[in-house]
Amino acid sequence: MPPPIPEQLTKYEKIEALVKGFKLSTLTYKRIMHLLDAEMNNGLTKHTHHVADIKMFPTFVRSLPDGTETGSFLALDLGGTNFRVLLVKIDELDVDIQSKTYLIPQRIMLGTGQQLFDHIADCIGKFINEHDLKGQKLPLGFTFSFPCRQEGLAKARLSKWTKGFRCEGVVGEDICQLLHEALKRRTNTDVEIVAIVNDAVGTLMSAAHGDRACEIGLILGTGCNACYMETLDNVGLWDTDNKDKAHPNQVIINTEWGAFGDNGCLDFVRTEYDRELDTYSINPGKQIMEKMISGMYMGEIVRLTLERLTSEGLVFMGADRDSLLFERGKFYTKYVSEIESDHDEFFRNTKQVLEELGIDNFTTEDCKIIKYVCTLVSARSAFLAAAGLATLINRLKKPEMTIAVDGSLYRFHPRFHNLMSLKIKELVHNGLKFKLSLSHDGSGKGAALVAAVAMRLRSLKV
Ligand code: BGC
Repeated sequence: MPPPIPEQLTKYEKIEALVKGFKLSTLTYKRIMHLLDAEMNNGLTKHTHHVADIKMFPTFVRSLPDGTETGSFLALDLGGTNFRVLLVKIDELDVDIQSKTYLIPQRIMLGTGQQLFDHIADCIGKFINEHDLKGQKLPLGFTFSFPCRQEGLAKARLSKWTKGFRCEGVVGEDICQLLHEALKRRTNTDVEIVAIVNDAVGTLMSAAHGDRACEIGLILGTGCNACYMETLDNVGLWDTDNKDKAHPNQVIINTEWGAFGDNGCLDFVRTEYDRELDTYSINPGKQIMEKMISGMYMGEIVRLTLERLTSEGLVFMGADRDSLLFERGKFYTKYVSEIESDHDEFFRNTKQVLEELGIDNFTTEDCKIIKYVCTLVSARSAFLAAAGLATLINRLKKPEMTIAVDGSLYRFHPRFHNLMSLKIKELVHNGLKFKLSLSHDGSGKGAALVAAVAMRLRSLKV
């Protein structure tokens, strides 16, 4: 049970007491960075890797596009509620993309691995028929946005499910093999899976195609994750022969930083709302940092806070208990962006959201309070992501760099970009310059580019 708030406080003091946990000082963010940096080292080091929460998986992607890649590729994108199949044509000047999105029903997200991969194979089969690609053996890049231990560019074992997925029988298995078998079972298609990549990696690759200063990829969407280019000497985990002259002495590391805090090290900043959200999630105790940042959870944190304020009689005095505000998962993260886009006293978006939630008895003061809660929760999210990026920027020590960002939260929230930029400036070592740049279709284009780079390097070897 959360602690009661003292009766003698004024209404605004009570509200403050219930939301102050979202306001963290710069010193606290620096402490978080210190812990994060230490955990990243644990992830990269052979003898501590197995106990580290941040896995720092080497991806086997070691070369960025040099602009000479060409050809047609299939790309797959699985990670949220949708599955996309793309046909990507790359030439030196342009990238042309045709794609189709297929829904993944929740029963499949929570069903068996075989159901999931059969569903995916069916979608690929349809796409190939519709685009007249039968008989063409196109190289395929697969963006699979879950933590995977890679054993090669096209061999990746799922280490655990995250976000809304929990399909039985997939953890520990090679995703490429599962896809291959499903394609064989369900279609007659012959594709060559050339690469499996995380969406953060795809985002970095896609942006690096046009900007050589790009060193970090960040996803702020349903989930949250980052990757960066690391020198092999710093990757204790790397024991593959690296005399391969086709590659520079580097590899992209998929940090999987969403799992930071799973060992309890973030408990000192978690609020009662974070704890409740975690208890009722499909993966309690897991992905603690992700749950404080990403789009899958932000709306619910706001909802839990408003629920508490309502039960203390501080907001929505006239709200009906049947309202969706009191139902788990019904306050969407897009509402946070909409509410924070209200800039005058009319609160048009906020009123619209309240109507959708079935609350029709509210005051202007209620609107101010709901907006205040949204700004606190989203600022904490942006600042935590900024602390993560600042940690990476300080590790890399490059005087100037670009960070490629993708994901619905970053795209649609009105203040995310500015909040993050300001906080990173405050947290990075003196003189290090950075630019946050929106990456377009990292998951689709990025996966095709990884495949394209692999094909280019393969042709150099023969
Ligand atoms: C996954 C990452 C992914 C991120 C963004 C997280 O839940 O673990 O692999 O990159 O979501 O989609």
